Amino acid sequence: MGFIADSLSRVKPSATIAVSTKARELKAAGRDVIGLGAGEPDFDTPENIKEAAIRAIREGKTKYTAVDGIPELKDAICGKFKRENSLVYTPDQISVGTGGKQVLYNALIATINPGDEVLVPAPFWVSYPDMVALAGGTPVEVPATQESGFKITPEALEATITPKTKWIIFNSPSNPSGAAYTASEMKALTDVLKAHPHVWVMTDDMYEHLVYDDFKFATIAEVEPELFDRTLTVNGVSKAYAMTGWRIGYAGGPQTLIKAMAKVQSQSTSNPSSVSQWAAVEALNGTQEFIQPNNEIFKGRRDLVVSMLNQAGGISCPVPEGAFYVFPSCAGTIGKATPSGKTLATDEDFVTELLEAEGVAVVHGSAFGLGPNFRISYATSTEALEEACTRIQRFCGNLR
Ligand SMILES: Cc1ncc(COP(=O)(O)O)c(C=O)c1O
Repeated sequence: MGFIADSLSRVKPSATIAVSTKARELKAAGRDVIGLGAGEPDFDTPENIKEAAIRAIREGKTKYTAVDGIPELKDAICGKFKRENSLVYTPDQISVGTGGKQVLYNALIATINPGDEVLVPAPFWVSYPDMVALAGGTPVEVPATQESGFKITPEALEATITPKTKWIIFNSPSNPSGAAYTASEMKALTDVLKAHPHVWVMTDDMYEHLVYDDFKFATIAEVEPELFDRTLTVNGVSKAYAMTGWRIGYAGGPQTLIKAMAKVQSQSTSNPSSVSQWAAVEALNGTQEFIQPNNEIFKGRRDLVVSMLNQAGGISCPVPEGAFYVFPSCAGTIGKATPSGKTLATDEDFVTELLEAEGVAVVHGSAFGLGPNFRISYATSTEALEEACTRIQRFCGNLR
């Protein structure tokens, strides 16, 4: 340890980044590798959004801005929440940060005292527990299973709430499972939360627009207005508008919390990029017409991947409602051996051997708190997905 802070010893390096690094190394060594680890759309940012950013640069909108967002963007966000979620926020209830990630982190830093517990439904996005730990809190998993569609039950939620619970971090559609809660499934959970007024809700709605088969997205404060005053509704432009590199995320919530988050941001990074904020204004206020065609492409890829994986021996892959991930079980391969003589004892063995044998990079489910599963991101070309799934079928077929 020595020079490095003790708090960092509780933080794991990101498993998703580790997989990408390994895949890059193999590629550099001349191997033919298909990376299915990355969580970003392969589409380009729409032209109207790029143009708005270029205009902002030309107009000299290149200086410091208000710490937690320009008024024009806060207005656009209020408009978005009203239009799409029937949530009425005022600009002083809005915070803009450098990606949804910073917004989530600010909220935790602004609220967590040592010993506070934060509920994290599993499987979870890898960053939640580590962000909680960095903020000095204790992440507490709320378990879900593949049989329950990777969704937590009201009973599981009730059983994990203690007097120390400060937040639940809710994520629907989910990274890594793609599972999304219907309004009535969500209502069963908010009924539990209503009875525990000390528990606040941080809902990460980053994948709101990525839902398929007429699934209707819902968010907590919309489903249960009684929770509005203790809910932070987090969202962003990264996934829906193919803007991962622009780094704009935002949240709506009670003014005291929003102010505290601005204080954290004012003493760390200050405002998110001025140019990106103007691009986000256009993303939210401009045409939304590319979302639907993009979703049709994602849906086609999801169906292809689910179908091909279910034809691989030992794999069982449910159909997720949203996001661009599938989270199949590889339980049927555990205990079997590869032609090179390696026995698969865990999902981590499965992904390691798959990468070695067939050059397909996926992330093991246990990194997200549930195994033996693995996560595939289908935000990549249909041809690459087809080839990757063929290789997975071959890998599984060769196990003995
Ligand atoms: C569930 C979830 N929340 C938040 C983020 C972060 O989004 P941003 O790029 O806006 O920081 C991601 C990105 O992978 C995510 O999967």
